[in-house]
Amino acid sequence: MLRRFAAASRSSAKLVAPLGCLVSRQKHTLPDLPYDYGALEPHINAEIMQLHHSKHHATYVNNLNVAEEKYKEALAKGDVTTQVSLQPALKFNGGGHINHTIFWTNLSPNGGGEPKGELMEAIKRDFGSFANFKEKLTAVSVGVQGSGWGWLGYNKEQGRLQIAACANQDPLQGTTGLIPLLGIDVWEHAYYLQYKNVRPDYLKAIWNVINWGMYLQDMQLAKSRVEFLHRLLKCHQFYSDTTLVVPVAYK
Ligand SMILES: [Fe+2]
Repeated sequence: MLRRFAAASRSSAKLVAPLGCLVSRQKHTLPDLPYDYGALEPHINAEIMQLHHSKHHATYVNNLNVAEEKYKEALAKGDVTTQVSLQPALKFNGGGHINHTIFWTNLSPNGGGEPKGELMEAIKRDFGSFANFKEKLTAVSVGVQGSGWGWLGYNKEQGRLQIAACANQDPLQGTTGLIPLLGIDVWEHAYYLQYKNVRPDYLKAIWNVINWGMYLQDMQLAKSRVEFLHRLLKCHQFYSDTTLVVPVAYK
């Protein structure tokens, strides 16, 4: 299926709303978590999840809506200076909304273990073994200076998986071109209330709730994820018509 991503990218534009949707788009909303706040305990406690989702993510959504409203007004006025000045807020809050929306689906109370099927085959091909992949993504995530994210992404040009780190709330695809598969939030708000300053302990624990079922080994779930990303990204100004990839099998 990974190979299908690359092939599909060339003809995915017809599935994506035109860029003009920026003007007519509805406001962004905070997505519901697919599980209870306490469902990931003991690995991530309920207090962290509640604050992370209902406060931190909600703030990104609210601030993104405010920035987009100002941007829309600046566009209507032809006020380029204001449009440029709004870019940092759009990037930070837009990235925060995208990253967290993906992150919630990366986690599950029934998670942990190892992936199966084509994703596991691709991990072995590109990293040697699952253990090597896990060690590398953990190290990259632990090594993020300050706040940011560790990612497993798909490089559609090269047809291979890649690990990357992004600072702050920089969105993976908008920053590196990689399609996000698995993101690990290493902002302190994601772990400090439980793990204090020991980020490696949080990284060790999070592998117990990684939602491998969301990924490529299951056709129906994979379809759901692609449709989810489609809905999430189709009207976002950071993504052009050609950056969203839909597997051929689902057209
Ligand atoms: Fe976060």
